[in-house]
Formats: sequence, C-alpha cells, structure tokens
Amino acid sequence: PGRLVLGVESSCDETAAAVVEDGRRALSSVVASQVRDHAPFGGVVPELASRRHLEAVAPVIRAALAGAGVTLGQISGLAVTQGPGLIGSLLVGLSAAKALAWARDLPIVGVSHLEGHIAALRLMDDPPAPPFAALLVSGGHTSIYHVHDFGQMEELGQTVDDAAGEAYDKVAKLYGLGYPGGVIIDRLAAGGDPTAIQLPRPRLRDGTLDFSFSGLKSAVVRFRQEHIGQNYRIEDLCAGFQEAVVEVLTSKTIAAAKQRGLTRLALAGGVAANQRLRQAMAQAAAAAGMELTAPPVALCTDNAAMIAAAGAIRLRAGLRLALEADAVSRL
Ligand code: KG4
Ligand code: ZN
Repeated sequence: PGRLVLGVESSCDETAAAVVEDGRRALSSVVASQVRDHAPFGGVVPELASRRHLEAVAPVIRAALAGAGVTLGQISGLAVTQGPGLIGSLLVGLSAAKALAWARDLPIVGVSHLEGHIAALRLMDDPPAPPFAALLVSGGHTSIYHVHDFGQMEELGQTVDDAAGEAYDKVAKLYGLGYPGGVIIDRLAAGGDPTAIQLPRPRLRDGTLDFSFSGLKSAVVRFRQEHIGQNYRIEDLCAGFQEAVVEVLTSKTIAAAKQRGLTRLALAGGVAANQRLRQAMAQAAAAAGMELTAPPVALCTDNAAMIAAAGAIRLRAGLRLALEADAVSRL
C-alpha cells in the first residue's frame, strides 16, 4: 500500500475517523452522527456533544482501521481537525489523535476544518484541476475561495453574519420542521412554487463577494408573523427561501470566478448537498461556459476522510503539530 493517513474529526456533532491512501483514496470513512441526541433541542448542545465524542472516538477510530483492513502499525501519519468548531468537541479528537501519535511515535498535523472541506474534492474519482473557484457552504461557514492548488486557498468573500446552513436550520426551527433543517427544507421545497412567496436576496447586487443571511432569516420571521392564521403552503415558503439563498450563492460564485479568470467551479460543505443549489449552479456554470464539480453528498457533509486528505499534504510538506498545541475554536 501507499502512505496511509489516519484522519480524526470532531469539530461539531459528528465523530469521524478515516484512512486515506496517498491523500487521494479513502480506504474507510466512519461517521458517528449525534443528530438524534441533539434533535430534541433543535440544535447542537455543546456539552452533550463533547460527552458523545468522548464515548465514540475510540470505537470510531478502531472501526476506521478495521474498515480499511489495516493496523495502527501500518499508519504513516495522523491528521486531526484543530479548528474551527466547538472547543470541547475539538479537544476530544485532538487529544485522542495526539495520544496515538505520542504512543506510536507517529507524525501528526493539525488541519483546518475548512481546508478539509476543500480537500474532500481531491477524494473524488475525477477531482477538479486547480486553479478553480470553490463555494464552501456549511452550517458554520459560507465562503468563496480561489483554490490555487490543494492546500493553497485564498478567501475572496465570506458571510458577514449567519452561514447559509445556519439560515436553513433557523428557518426550519422557526416552523418546527425538525433538525437539522437543511435537508428537510430541501425536500419540502421540491414540492413548492419558488415564485409564490418572494423573499429578499441580501447583498445580491452590492458588488462584493461577501454574503449576509441574517436579513433573509428576519424576513422569514416577519413573513410568518404577518401571515398568522392565513393559509399558505409551507412547501412554497421553503421553495421561496431556498430560491433566495441559492440565487445569491450562485451569482456571487460565478462573479468571483469571472473576476479571477477561472473557468472551473467546485462546491463543498454540507449545504453543497442541496439539490436545488447543485442544479442552479450547474445551469449557471453552463451558461458562463464554466465547468462545475459537485462532490457526492458523503463528501459534502462532515467526515474525516477530508481531514486525512488535507493532512496528507501538510505531512508531505513537513509540517507538524506540537503535542502541546491547543484546539482553536475560531481558527
Ligand atoms: O459541513 P457540515 O456537515 O457541517 C459544518 O461544518 O457545519 O454542514 C452542515 C450544514 C447544516 O446546516 C445542514 O442543515 C446543512 O449543512 N445541509 C443542507 C443539506 N444537507 C445538509 N442544507 C441544505 N440542503 C441540504 N440538502
Ligand atoms: Zn463541516
């Protein structure tokens, strides 16, 4: 086998471990989701998340090794998410990975969760060739990057308030649709009319590559208050909200690529699983003569294979995480 990197991820509500060969092939990818633990609260409860990570981290790492058919002795390096994320959650994965590195005298690198989401693209059968523009949309982040090379990305714009996924989750919570809200709204919106309920497109024509989603969320709150007791379809509300989000994401990503003279686009992060976003982005890319890469859903949402893929690049570059290094909540 080639060089094997064991990746560990615990930044939010998923405990994950994976073995990746040569930074390109995931031999295993195990994700233990805590969604059911947090669902009754309508969002992630940080203290509960830390406890669940603590219970899951060792079995998940063992399962990743077994799934890849390798032993710890065959691993050549470790990669772990150092931030950003919930500090208590991050510390569990970081401590576990450091302990393994120390016990087995293995090299270890710390990886940014965001760099990981972009590195997920490298695990595809047909990865996008750098340079390309990447839209990273997740529950905590919404950014556009100029990816010069894997491991070398330049931020061109980001949200000034809520992340796109956060807006989905908050709207779902407002209407009591369930948690996490993104995939539920995605499904409901498919049965709705996106033109029936018009909502604002924040910062659509402000000329920057920055996003804002808190105003859109407030518009939904206002709409709901003004229509109490009136009949409207929740599917139409979901479709109208989603159309506003997708239009802003799509148009700014195309604008960013044009500014930088890039002809390739890629999606990353949990919201990249959104069916309407994938469809609208494919249409916009085709109209602009650009090529779009949309990874399979399992590579969009949080996983550790993406952390191992990003880590492989850092390990090769000779970077190392000091055993006394801390987790960084706002990395
Ligand atoms: O990347 P991710 O798994 O975790 C973070 O790093 O945040 O993204 C999770 C986010 C959540 O806000 C979730 O609601 C959203 O991605 N999401 C979706 C869909 N699937 C997940 N949003 C819209 N449509 C989806 N199909
Ligand atoms: Zn993520």
